[in-house]
Amino acid sequence: MKKIFAATILAALTLTVQAQEDNTKRDAFIKDLMGKMTLEEKIGQLTLYTSGWDVTGPTLNENYKNELKAGKVGALFNAHTVKYNRDLQETAVKKTRLGIPLIFGYDVIHGHRTIFPIPLAESCSWDLDMIRESARLSAKEAAASGLNWTFNPMVDIARDPRWGRISEGSGEDTYLGSLIAKAKVKGYQGDDLSDPLTVAACVKHFAAYGAPQAGRDYSTVDMSERVLRETYLPPYKAAVDAGVETIMTSFNEVDGVPATGSKWLFTDILRKEWGFNGFVVTDYTAINEMVPHGIVANEKEAAELALNAGVDMDMQGGVYNQYVAELIKEGKLTEEQVNTAVRRILESKWNLGLFKDPYLYLDEKREKKILYSQELMDHALESGKRSIVLLKNENNLLPLSKEVKSIALIGPLGDNQIDLLGSWHASGNESKVVTILQGLKEKAPNAKITYVKGTGFGFDGDDSKDEFEAAIEAARNADVVILAVGENYRQNGEAASRSDITLPGVQQELVEEVMKVGKPTVALVGAGRPLDLSWIDANVPAIVNTWHLGTMHGRAVADVLFGDYNPAGKLTITFPRNVGQVPIYYNMKNTGRPFDANNKYTSKYLDVPNTPLYPFGYGLSYTTFEYSGLNISKSSLNMGDEVTISVNVKNSGSRDGEEVVQLYIRDLVGSVTRPVRELKGFEKILLKAGESRTVNFTISTDDLAFYTRNMDFKAEPGDFEVYMGGDSNASLKGTFKIAE
Ligand code: BGC
Repeated sequence: MKKIFAATILAALTLTVQAQEDNTKRDAFIKDLMGKMTLEEKIGQLTLYTSGWDVTGPTLNENYKNELKAGKVGALFNAHTVKYNRDLQETAVKKTRLGIPLIFGYDVIHGHRTIFPIPLAESCSWDLDMIRESARLSAKEAAASGLNWTFNPMVDIARDPRWGRISEGSGEDTYLGSLIAKAKVKGYQGDDLSDPLTVAACVKHFAAYGAPQAGRDYSTVDMSERVLRETYLPPYKAAVDAGVETIMTSFNEVDGVPATGSKWLFTDILRKEWGFNGFVVTDYTAINEMVPHGIVANEKEAAELALNAGVDMDMQGGVYNQYVAELIKEGKLTEEQVNTAVRRILESKWNLGLFKDPYLYLDEKREKKILYSQELMDHALESGKRSIVLLKNENNLLPLSKEVKSIALIGPLGDNQIDLLGSWHASGNESKVVTILQGLKEKAPNAKITYVKGTGFGFDGDDSKDEFEAAIEAARNADVVILAVGENYRQNGEAASRSDITLPGVQQELVEEVMKVGKPTVALVGAGRPLDLSWIDANVPAIVNTWHLGTMHGRAVADVLFGDYNPAGKLTITFPRNVGQVPIYYNMKNTGRPFDANNKYTSKYLDVPNTPLYPFGYGLSYTTFEYSGLNISKSSLNMGDEVTISVNVKNSGSRDGEEVVQLYIRDLVGSVTRPVRELKGFEKILLKAGESRTVNFTISTDDLAFYTRNMDFKAEPGDFEVYMGGDSNASLKGTFKIAE
């Protein structure tokens, strides 16, 4: 035992010494290189441009090509495939004076060519190992395709389903979101950034991009510093602690200052408080956009503000290239500031292994071997199944029997490929997508399956009712009806906010017409945001929230429908009853007039209950779980103590199944008011039918810290409630206190 311990320490020490030596080498190399660079070349390293893409493939506009040759471009994005990127890298290496290699960035958000579930869907798996594996495999496929930098993870906490980009994040909860942020960074970057199968990650969008007023993309963000620090910042911090190489600015303002010009965010918090030492890139033309924000009068002032804030790389705006040298001449910026930014970017290039071999990521044989490999396809299926959330299953309508004689599949997602890839699928290959129709056919080969699209998504006017009759007819002639409804991939994501979160187009009418036929019906809801499913919940016996699952969507859904996989996903975002309840999230405050049905003057609506349609953490299984025996190891804790909270969970149904056991606390009295519930732990367990297990959680008083009235981050003495169960409404309750 001792020997093993000593060997581990020795190995760790050797690694530390090695890392120090590497850093010394790196620093010397970069110092030497920077000594040779002109100011113009240095500013060039701060410049990131996009490649275009036309029918013949990727293209770089002539102007950028010339700037590249002149050493005025440090990185490119939206350029991929080994052949194309090799050409560009050769230009940088062979045609520029100093031959500094390019970094190639891309939005690899949920897979590169093989697409995994949208991030919001994956978060519903509550499976950190799987999420990390998705990131690792996305990195592998992207790196094989000539990329070495992804603009992901997006860790913006979002509580407003009107906001289209809710699909790209991990939902509403800070604790879970932080763990997922960490898992993704580790997955993308692995242990060694210079491994050609990993990529640098870029956590985004710093900060609080997920809280735009009215859910309208790019809109104003305004919140107290307490809420910012407590709810919105921790996932970015978790990514920084996990070693993320880069971070992206956000488009929005924070407390009156556009994030991209905020020294408070990028220097005081990010660098000084958190110790981040990678580089900061702007979002797309975010420096230029500080002019319409009204914080500066022109782009030159914008460049000054951004560099002064600590922003290193200018994405697509070209303003650093245009103005920084002039600003230095005028004494408004210093060359030292530019040197700091360049050094950070060159360090990343070193870390990626590009100075050793600029063509490290550019191997055509590797590309052929890795793209769409079995490993990727298998993972797409696995992650797909694990992301699905069963919302309703009246009288155990599901799972369906494989012996079913006839099925009517109705709705615009039924025989669809592209929309199942979801938002930000970038170069995801539509032709590889397994449709729902195909998935059903594979699973029930003897069934007669009739597919009727019924209508479109109400997008660009595709809301004809011409096929309603055919849909009704198909339903009449089938034993089971499956509705495949939801959003197309452009109805959520960037610049895709909606003020109405019901089924778009005339799909709701289609559903209502089909329900009149009275057949056993399952609604598969495929969307990138929580939809208002109130009518469907009241009228359709089985509801499966599938989200957009990517390449293996149809197969994953069929596995769940026919019971080859027992669904275990749990919502990471609250589903409102209607859009008027937004924002609605589980860890709200109690208010001074909490809901009381018998008292008019309490916090509520006249026309809708306060409760959501489906709460955070909710999701059904084909089996059932019973919770009992909540035990808390100590009733009173001193500051610094730990407490173990345990509960017995029993699979009380007749199928094996997985359950996400969730632990919530409530801090009853604080120097500032505390939420009614806060997630503090979870564990996903597999229980065989009839099996029981005790699940233990250990939390310390540090886990109960918050920003107190004078903004200290610490726990306070007092009483706490503990709730355990399978969703945020968990009712099994215990108490403990932190002693004075
Ligand atoms: C988005 C970013 C993205 C960037 C580059 C922007 O419009 O906000 O999330 O990484 O474009 O494609």
